[in-house]
Amino acid sequence: MTLVFHSIAEVQQWVGEARNQGGTVALVPTMGSLHEGHLALVREAQQRASHVVVSIFVNPLQFGPAEDLKNYPRDLSGDVARLSHLGTSAVFAPGVEEMYPGGPSATRVTVEGMSGVLCGRTRPTHFQGVTTVVAKLFHIVRPDVAVFGEKDWQQLAIIRRMVRDLNFGIDIVGVPIVRESSGLARSSRNQYLTAEDRSRAQALSRALEGARVAYLEGERRREVLRSCVLQTLRDAGLNPEYVEVVEPETLEQSPEALRGPAVIALAVRVGAARLIDNVILGRS
Ligand code: PAF
Repeated sequence: MTLVFHSIAEVQQWVGEARNQGGTVALVPTMGSLHEGHLALVREAQQRASHVVVSIFVNPLQFGPAEDLKNYPRDLSGDVARLSHLGTSAVFAPGVEEMYPGGPSATRVTVEGMSGVLCGRTRPTHFQGVTTVVAKLFHIVRPDVAVFGEKDWQQLAIIRRMVRDLNFGIDIVGVPIVRESSGLARSSRNQYLTAEDRSRAQALSRALEGARVAYLEGERRREVLRSCVLQTLRDAGLNPEYVEVVEPETLEQSPEALRGPAVIALAVRVGAARLIDNVILGRS
């Protein structure tokens, strides 16, 4: 049975007991509405620690004023059922008042530079909201390991940097993107897609796969790889917010001729959903 905690005190007591029994703790931070992509994170966490806690918290701090906070999909009982099925030890599902008593916290954690590129250009406060809540979750749960999806590569790179800069001493594990059979990356926001949007959205993974194949065949020119992705998206009638080829750790633009691994990251609005996707090139 999966235990569900709504208060910080309860989850901390449970973590304390796990540690007293000699256990290790993995945290999987989520905003709920769990799909196969999240479940892959939980399975990875189960391989890495004796006790797994999944946090479910739709964090207001990471939504911009015009974004979908109010309508963000929420399904706590369905999420708990899915997690019980996997044998997850515990869920931490605090309310907004528990996480931000008396209003949004005055203290913010910002990873400068990296938070302002890619998605940060159009969502200028988003990553500060993410790093602030993730830092809070890390302090509350004090896990040995925390698991995140590679779909949001920028988020993962920023959290790794925060953990390094602020000496959290937590092992950050990234899990590869889980895709539908059509290639579409699993996302809670796929719920906003109509049938027609879904078929257009297949162009995202098709575009990235095309670039990956070109890379495998020896193409190393950054702009050629980028154009290859742009062209496939435009052919599908999509106008991306960005397509960038960046260094995996720093998110700085890759050199004109790639010398090492790179990430092609993109964001595209398809119907009512803003979708992100990426491919990692040259990873050993
Ligand atoms: O990736 C997410 O679901 C969120 O950004 C996270 C990491 C749970 C922080 O709210």
